[in-house]
Amino acid sequence: MTIVTGVTARVPAKLNLQLAVGPPRADGYHDLVTVFHAVSLFDEVTVEAAGRDTVTVTGEGAGTVPHDGDNLALRAVAALRRQVRGGNRTAGVRVSIAKRIPVAAGMAGGSADAAAALVACNELWTAGLTAQRLAEIAATIGSDVAFALLGGTAVGRGRGERLTPALAPATQYHWVLAFADGQLSTPEVYAALDRLRSSQGVAPQAKHQPDLDAGLMSALRSGDAARLGRALSNDLQPAALSLYPALRKTLAAGLELGALGALVAGSGPTCVFLAASAERALELAVSLSGTGVCRSVARVTGPVPGAAVVPAQG
Ligand code: C5P
Repeated sequence: MTIVTGVTARVPAKLNLQLAVGPPRADGYHDLVTVFHAVSLFDEVTVEAAGRDTVTVTGEGAGTVPHDGDNLALRAVAALRRQVRGGNRTAGVRVSIAKRIPVAAGMAGGSADAAAALVACNELWTAGLTAQRLAEIAATIGSDVAFALLGGTAVGRGRGERLTPALAPATQYHWVLAFADGQLSTPEVYAALDRLRSSQGVAPQAKHQPDLDAGLMSALRSGDAARLGRALSNDLQPAALSLYPALRKTLAAGLELGALGALVAGSGPTCVFLAASAERALELAVSLSGTGVCRSVARVTGPVPGAAVVPAQG
């Protein structure tokens, strides 16, 4: 019998092609209708048996990731352990996270790491939990964790954890990401949206019941990037812009440079641009980085699959 000593899982970042936000609920969350889309910017999470649970983080924004019980990957390990007691499964785990997804950037990097930790520990402990069971555990850790397991393009409802895969042709979209200098806190952006809405006299419970955008879904079914670009929407964008006004310039610059669509990623501050082709994405990325409206740029494609174990070498 082979004893598995370390398992690595790779997990993508997400975009929200639509993010429709309802009024605040009694539990502080907001009901959503969102169209998640996984893109080819990956973190890698390695888990190894150890005396106790620890986490180390390297790469993009490593210094700002919590190393204690607030770390979502460690919380995922603990949540999975509660479900699969026995054998070596109660032992500690050394979690090593190699980050490429920026922290607090609106791309669910922390949730991605939690999803990767679930998949990797399921393998390390030969626990054999089904995708369905892992998704249920994921939903207890954070609103975006279940999608990081699933990947692809999917409609999210509830807090974002109730998922339906979107049936769409196998079109590959080309995106340019503009990373910002700063970070935005997700709860603060939601709170800013609530404030903006009440300052506009919107009775919170009466309006803004979120609804799936039929135009966006039809654009996805057609595989037409120009239509998709026009249909992108994010209710959190005005709130993110109110907290980070410089993002207006970034969005405007990308559109001037020919992007088919532009929006803030999730709660921001990353800005996302859709390009017509791989070549256009390269041109856009080069031009955007020359304008000085962002810290750095990346080109990614989507959709890509969700969290998965990386086959061992050799
Ligand atoms: O679920 P997660 O921990 O990722 O959410 C972070 C914060 O974002 C929540 O504490 C809440 O303030 C806000 N949020 C929300 N409604 C959602 C998802 C997140 O208000 N559907």
